[in-house]
Amino acid sequence: MKDMAIVLAGGQGKRMRSDKPKVLCGVLGEPMIEWVLTACENAGLEKICVVKGFRADMIEDYLAARKSKAEISSVLQEEQLGTGHAVMQAEELMKEYADGNVLILNGDAPFIDAETINDALKCHTAADNSVTVVTAMIPDPTGYGRIIRGENGLSAIVEHKDCTPAQLAVTEVNSGCYWFRTADLLEVLGELTNDNAQGEYYLTDCIGLLIAAGKRAEAYTSHDPNVVLGANDRRSLLALNDAARAEVIGRHLENGIEFTCTDGVSIGNSVTIGQGTVIHAGAVLRGRTSIGENCIIGSGCVIENCTVGNGVDLNYVQAFDSVIEDHVKIGPFVQVRPGSRIRKGAKIGDFVEIKNSDIGEYTAVAHLTYVGDSDVGANVNFGCGVVTVNYNGDKKFRTVIGDNAFIGCNTNLVAPVRVGNGAYTAAGSTITKDIPDNALAIERGKQTIKEDYAVKKLAHHRKKLEDARKAEEAEVKK
Ligand code: UD1
Ligand code: CA
Repeated sequence: MKDMAIVLAGGQGKRMRSDKPKVLCGVLGEPMIEWVLTACENAGLEKICVVKGFRADMIEDYLAARKSKAEISSVLQEEQLGTGHAVMQAEELMKEYADGNVLILNGDAPFIDAETINDALKCHTAADNSVTVVTAMIPDPTGYGRIIRGENGLSAIVEHKDCTPAQLAVTEVNSGCYWFRTADLLEVLGELTNDNAQGEYYLTDCIGLLIAAGKRAEAYTSHDPNVVLGANDRRSLLALNDAARAEVIGRHLENGIEFTCTDGVSIGNSVTIGQGTVIHAGAVLRGRTSIGENCIIGSGCVIENCTVGNGVDLNYVQAFDSVIEDHVKIGPFVQVRPGSRIRKGAKIGDFVEIKNSDIGEYTAVAHLTYVGDSDVGANVNFGCGVVTVNYNGDKKFRTVIGDNAFIGCNTNLVAPVRVGNGAYTAAGSTITKDIPDNALAIERGKQTIKEDYAVKKLAHHRKKLEDARKAEEAEVKK
């Protein structure tokens, strides 16, 4: 049996007032369609077809950049004439999978999950249904298709705009997630009409058509009302973000993560955090980030696509696409840019930027320093104000610093250059040539002393001030 999924992502979502397709609007920093595709993959679906329409190019770019587990293809819906019309675009593919079931999902309802998908499939196959619709009871069903139940299961889904007053009172709604027996869907898809309040080809009308053809339709009611939540405008998108934020934080609380205050805390859905870690107000963790055990993630941290070890202490750190090993302490006001590895026990202090560099174990970069395109050994000490001069306006070059080196304050290391193991640079030096192991490099003007230089200069300055004051007084008396 061959099962597949179709994800509907063709709509513009006019009410979102965005120039990108609605499904690319983010919940916790991930496009809504990303949540939906992840749920499909986690449910074990190997073939997914995305229906694109409005700004199809943006959907294509997104899919091309995505690391997908499943085989994902896309079809174009040139005009967006409704959800039924969107599914028609995938007809050819469905024919190849005609002996299985097809899962259809809205790309704008991000909270569908693998468990619901699989439980609904079990219900679908056990009861030998032609279609199984995932539904939920929600307090405010405004805008959703209402589930109309008949004697045996489901009798119809009626869109909000087409409801009678009695139907509007129904609080069980359509999630937009369905399992269809593929061959049965193919049979009725062509019979859809657009004779309704919105003049669209509704996928939901397939239910009535299947029942009329003597097939079984059933509703699978999810216990989690969130699975149906969709976003059609910015207000509902924010509500989804709030719901997701609370859900994700709740999950971490259960795993033994301490939150001193959740104000401004935002954690992406796929972020993992080890037990005993403390998260302070305003921390933002996103993308493919994993945080180890017993870390402190302080206020003002933005950590994206980073692997952070155990016992790490971060305070006002912005870190991207980097690795931070065990017992590293960073902050405050530090930026760790992509491609960096901060090794075990290193300390990075205030106003430091690290870019595309490897910082060795127990090395200290305490303050006001730029380390870019560098390979730094273990136990190195950076004085205040060191700059690796990595760019000549055309090309970038690497700086290499050996173990136990000591880089004096305000040293410029003009790359490509190598500082040997245990070597020293004198404060204020601009280093352009390699320094051998254990050597000291001094590169600065010799100091000269001009005795009593200030005495005459100061007397002159005082006299100038005195004269100015007198002139002012004379002016006032006039
Ligand atoms: C749809 C359902 C409704 C359900 C709700 C759940 C229909 C007719 N109605 O309504 O019963 O309660 O979802 O969220 O299916 N799309 C296309 N091409 C189109 C139209 C839509 O690809 O021509 C895509 C959209 O990008 C979106 C999804 O289909 O991802 C749902 O479309 P939308 O217009 O938001 O449907 P709803 O009115 O919310
Ligand atoms: Ca919708």
